[in-house]
Amino acid sequence: MASQVHLPYFDQILALLKDQNQEAIAAFGRHVHWGYWEDPKRADGTLPDFANATEQLSRKVCDAGNITDGLKILDCGCGFGGTIASLNERFSNLELVGVNIDERQLERARSQVQPLNQNAISFVCADACNLPFEDNSFDVVLAVECIFHFPSRETFFQEAHRVLKPGGHLAICDFVPLKISLPLMQFLDKFLQSSVQKTYGLVQSNFSLSTYQTLAQTTGFIPRITEDITRNTLPTYPLVRQLCRQNGAAETAKITAGAELVSKLGITRYLILSFEAIDPY
Ligand SMILES: C[S@@+](CC[C@H](N)C(=O)[O-])C[C@H]1O[C@@H](n2cnc3c(N)ncnc32)[C@H](O)[C@@H]1O
Repeated sequence: MASQVHLPYFDQILALLKDQNQEAIAAFGRHVHWGYWEDPKRADGTLPDFANATEQLSRKVCDAGNITDGLKILDCGCGFGGTIASLNERFSNLELVGVNIDERQLERARSQVQPLNQNAISFVCADACNLPFEDNSFDVVLAVECIFHFPSRETFFQEAHRVLKPGGHLAICDFVPLKISLPLMQFLDKFLQSSVQKTYGLVQSNFSLSTYQTLAQTTGFIPRITEDITRNTLPTYPLVRQLCRQNGAAETAKITAGAELVSKLGITRYLILSFEAIDPY
């Protein structure tokens, strides 16, 4: 088993779930990521509306991965298995594998997600940058709002390429700074690093779209989809800030407000990206 990483905000969420906190269950019991609102003006600030929006974001990333019945799919950084649960409900004859570096989250995933529709499901504790799977063994690799926590995007792309069959798809979503914003992000990182570390854990927001394109080229991928959904995610921020404040996580609320500001100013964009693996030979 990989040496585990326990992110501070997951310590908080797990404690709330253990106490049967109904708001935490509604907001983060299935998906732990931002929401997607087709029309953000219609977001109503309620927990059911947020839960629906997180499901929509998960589906958008899966759509970018070209998922159809019968595929073998790896969800890296799978959290409580929300994306696997969604695929399990919507498709059949899938082989679904969730990977996470925190065994506590996988325990919840295993208890929450039971196979339906002739699907097979397993959850494995491992580092997404050191995958315990054979070469050419998956049709799709997903990483829903987690790549910024991984030790290295380069190593993750190499690993994703190794385990994907040629023609397979990698689909992710990430907070991507504009190239001209990178020096500002580095500056902010210097001052906020210890607060971010204490709340969200390791967060590396230093990859622009052009860096992604270069990375894809050097690791055997062709970029397929780039979708900017920043404005569709914005209703997430007030809701997450409010939940943090209600549950004594004032510092997490402050960092979330900072992330909201850089998103609203267009310094960082929320992107869905997908790539097709090409055979290097
Ligand atoms: C924002 S959560 C997203 C969870 C899930 N993808 C979802 O959408 O609900 C980030 C996830 O990345 C996981 N993670 C962080 N570092 C990881 C690593 N090196 N390998 C695998 N998972 C990792 C965390 O444990 C956490 O579950």
